[in-house]
Amino acid sequence: MKTLVIITHPNMEQSRVNRTWREELEKHGEFTIHELYKTYPDENIDVAKEQALIEAHDRIIFQYPLFWYSTPTLLKRWFDTVLQYGWAYGPDGSKTAGKEIGVAISTYGSEASYQPDGFNRYTLEEILRPIDALAHFISASYLPHFALSDVSNLSDERLEQSKVDYIRHIKTVQPVKQAVTAK
Ligand SMILES: Cc1cc2nc3c(=O)[nH]c(=O)nc-3n(C[C@H](O)[C@H](O)[C@H](O)COP(=O)(O)O)c2cc1C
Repeated sequence: MKTLVIITHPNMEQSRVNRTWREELEKHGEFTIHELYKTYPDENIDVAKEQALIEAHDRIIFQYPLFWYSTPTLLKRWFDTVLQYGWAYGPDGSKTAGKEIGVAISTYGSEASYQPDGFNRYTLEEILRPIDALAHFISASYLPHFALSDVSNLSDERLEQSKVDYIRHIKTVQPVKQAVTAK
């Protein structure tokens, strides 16, 4: 199982969570780490290079801070430009078929806030449905997400524990929905 972690954070120097997770991933050495803002400071994505990276891996984890209940801009652009008709979907588009796609996010909102009766009104599973749906559309399996919430009240101990939990998650998580070939 070859795992690619695509990290999208526009300000890694000031990041606490995503930077710590990246450093932990690097220690393990078995993951391909790909930082979009570092690779494309001008936001000009090399589509062929990205497609080749995806083709060379089985499991793709999108790691990012939740921004307005969605992804940072460059990851949205990545979806828009890389997941092309004839490559990811469409009659001859099968390069993403059978891949596993997952998400690892950090959020300012607390776990309690991401509940139907909480401030943010929706669960993270619900907020991440566009990625779940995207995976289905390109015939990939969607993995249960990994999240660290309430980051403004994050103790060093909880951050340390999250590193252990994150690595275990990436290595052991299994799809809940099997890949279905798009019609
Ligand atoms: C533009 C912007 C939008 C954000 N939107 C949300 C949001 O919708 N929900 C949320 O819980 N946190 C939101 N946040 C907080 C970030 O998710 C939080 O700062 C980040 O996860 C911390 O991770 P880091 O230490 O790696 O930077 C937002 C932050 C920014 C800068």
